[in-house]
Parts: sequence; C-alpha cells; structure tokens
Amino acid sequence: MKNILFVISSPRGWQSRSHQFASHIVDDLKSRHPAATVTVRDVARDPLPHIGEAFVTGQGLPPEKRGPAQARALALSDALVDELVAADTIVLAVPMYNWGIPSSLKAWIDHIARPGRTYCRSANGPEGLLKGKKAVIVVARGGVYAEGPMQPFDFQESYLRAVLGFIGITDLHVVRVEGVGMGEEALRKAAVSAKAQAKDILRAIA
Ligand SMILES: Cc1cc2nc3c(=O)[nH]c(=O)nc-3n(C[C@H](O)[C@H](O)[C@H](O)COP(=O)(O)O)c2cc1C
Repeated sequence: MKNILFVISSPRGWQSRSHQFASHIVDDLKSRHPAATVTVRDVARDPLPHIGEAFVTGQGLPPEKRGPAQARALALSDALVDELVAADTIVLAVPMYNWGIPSSLKAWIDHIARPGRTYCRSANGPEGLLKGKKAVIVVARGGVYAEGPMQPFDFQESYLRAVLGFIGITDLHVVRVEGVGMGEEALRKAAVSAKAQAKDILRAIA
C-alpha cells in the first residue's frame, strides 16, 4: 500500500459519523503502512463545480482539438482522475442524503468517470480501467437499509458499488454505520457494529 486517497463528503466535519469511522480506517492503514501517502479530497469543504457544457462537449475531443473553455474544464477533471489513478487504496466517507449520496460527491464522480481515462468501450461492452485498486466505503444513515423494509430505498451503497465497479474498482468493502437517527440504543449498536465491520475489513485488506 503506497498511496491512500481519502474522499470526504459530509459537511459536518468531526461530527460526521462517516468521517469519524473512515478516519479510523485511514489511521489504521497508515499505522500499518507508515510510508504510504494520504491525499485528502474533501468535496464538502472544497466543493467541485458541476460539469457543464464545456466539459461535456470537450471530453470526447482529443486535447489538441479542445477550445480554451473545454481545456480548462477538462484540466480539473484530469487532475482528479490523476489523483485517483495514483491511489492504490481509496477510502470514501459518505452520508446518505435522500436515499442517495450528497450532490458534492456526485460532482466528483461526474469528473472522474471519464471515457478513455477510467473506462473504455470494448467489444464486450464498457470496461473499467482502474484495475487492482481496493476501496473502503463508510456509509452513514439515519435509518436501517442493510435489512428490513427500507432495503429497496438504498440508492447510496448500490450506486457507489455500481459506479466504482464500472470504472474497474471491484475490490470493494463497505462499513455501514446505520440507524444513527433511531435513538441512543440504536446509535450505540451502530457504533459497535461499524467497529466490528471495520476490523474485519482491515484484517482482509491491510
Ligand atoms: C439532508 C439530509 C438528508 C438525509 N437523508 C437521509 C435519508 O434519506 N435516509 C436516512 O436514513 N438518513 C438520512 N439522513 C440522515 C443522515 O444520513 C445521517 O445523519 C448520517 O449520519 C449523515 O452522515 P454524517 O454523520 O457522515 O454526516 C439525512 C440527513 C440530511 C442532513
């Protein structure tokens, strides 16, 4: 393990449960691999622009054919892709918002899901280009979605699995901190369970 990319998407700083548990994981990985670098990409504190016309029209063009606005739009995306490509391990801290992910994280995904850079079209259909990476996603939710009647409403974990898998990141581990809005006892159970999940994952990947 040489380079860890830590993507934070809760605006709640240290109050954030996804941030807290994901930080423990990053700290643990770092203690086992002291030479590893940790790059923090906090999309809540430093929001990325939404992709716009220049990005959409420019991304399919070779760099020498892009106009100035297209080149500027793609330069940011290229830097974010480079950051992701350089990482062998990605840790994402993700709150559930309205059954999905925060729009700040969606903006990051729109920048890094790039044809020719993170996926390509092959004879067998789309193919992810980011092979050989590990990812740990810490999802925090007020309710419970791993089981029970709300399971079909989880568009957070299912979306992240789909989109990261699409770009080739299939060695993916999820820590669920859930039920945090259901009272003190549920919160205590959520913390105990999340710690146990993180321990198992660290044993498997570190
Ligand atoms: C804008 C907003 C939308 C939310 N939507 C949901 C939701 O759809 N389902 C849910 O279970 N919890 C929802 N919650 C609760 C959060 O997922 C929960 O507080 C979680 O701990 C937030 O992550 P964080 O602690 O990392 O900031 C929402 C919270 C906010 C602020």
